[in-house]
Amino acid sequence: MTIAWRDKVAVVTGGSRGIGRHIALQLAKAGLKVAVSYRGNETAAQETEALIRQQGAESLLLQLDVSQIANAQVLIDQVLQTWGRVDVVVNNAGIARDTLLLRMKDSDWTEVIQTDLTGVFAVTRASMRPMMKQRFGRIVNIASIAGLMGNVGQANYAAAKAGVIGFTRSVAREMASRNITVNAVAPGLIETDLTHDMSEDALQALVKQVPLGRLGRPDEVADAVWYLINADYVTGQTLVVDGGLVMD
Ligand SMILES: NC(=O)c1ccc[n+]([C@@H]2O[C@H](COP(=O)([O-])OP(=O)(O)OC[C@H]3O[C@@H](n4cnc5c(N)ncnc54)[C@H](OP(=O)(O)O)[C@@H]3O)[C@@H](O)[C@H]2O)c1
Repeated sequence: MTIAWRDKVAVVTGGSRGIGRHIALQLAKAGLKVAVSYRGNETAAQETEALIRQQGAESLLLQLDVSQIANAQVLIDQVLQTWGRVDVVVNNAGIARDTLLLRMKDSDWTEVIQTDLTGVFAVTRASMRPMMKQRFGRIVNIASIAGLMGNVGQANYAAAKAGVIGFTRSVAREMASRNITVNAVAPGLIETDLTHDMSEDALQALVKQVPLGRLGRPDEVADAVWYLINADYVTGQTLVVDGGLVMD
């Protein structure tokens, strides 16, 4: 089935920068109205909004912290008040607090779990009622290959992202009969602020292990998200976008 996307409504958490911005633009190009949530980077969020509007699409910026459970309902209610429906949710907001387990502070653990896993739970749960009423919904959760293979210095992040994959599969089973699909994308090393923060040596060592021999681009992740949003007969899957680093 080809879905008529014009005037459908999407929410992208963490859409102000990086991968989320490219996902938001992909959706805007297809004619969806796009709500973008972000945590604090107002300048980046406004740039994204301007880029969405350049595509001729409507947009809504919402500054709120997805690590606070109550904010998820605020986010979805704002979108419903503005546009009356919610068809697509991309749970993209995420942080890393990398350090070896022996040095990991309580806050390194809780901040990553609250943002990367609890945030996904809360925003997905808040989206379910409107999607069930519409008998249509598309959810895509941004995981990571760290959630599949683990990574030194990322016990918190890998646990959160593995949690996202298990959560995706469970909700996909619960919601399939309502015509709501729930999938995940697991990016590898993608060129964004998140990877710019890594040391050049550590990054180059990792790039050497990538069969396709380079970092990925945010628009390449957005392409995978767009595929899953359009796929009628795919649910509960994790699509790996990593240049061949993980092969099952
Ligand atoms: N880059 C990679 O190599 C890579 C690899 C695998 C998976 N991923 C995943 O892909 C997703 C996007 O990553 P990225 O590299 O694009 O990250 P990024 O460039 O650091 O951008 C992160 C985005 O998330 C938002 N955000 C962070 N914490 C938030 C919170 N508590 N509440 C609301 N919004 C919040 C940020 O808002 P502000 O702009 O306001 O700060 C920003 O929009 C994440 O889930 C990440 O784990 C990335």
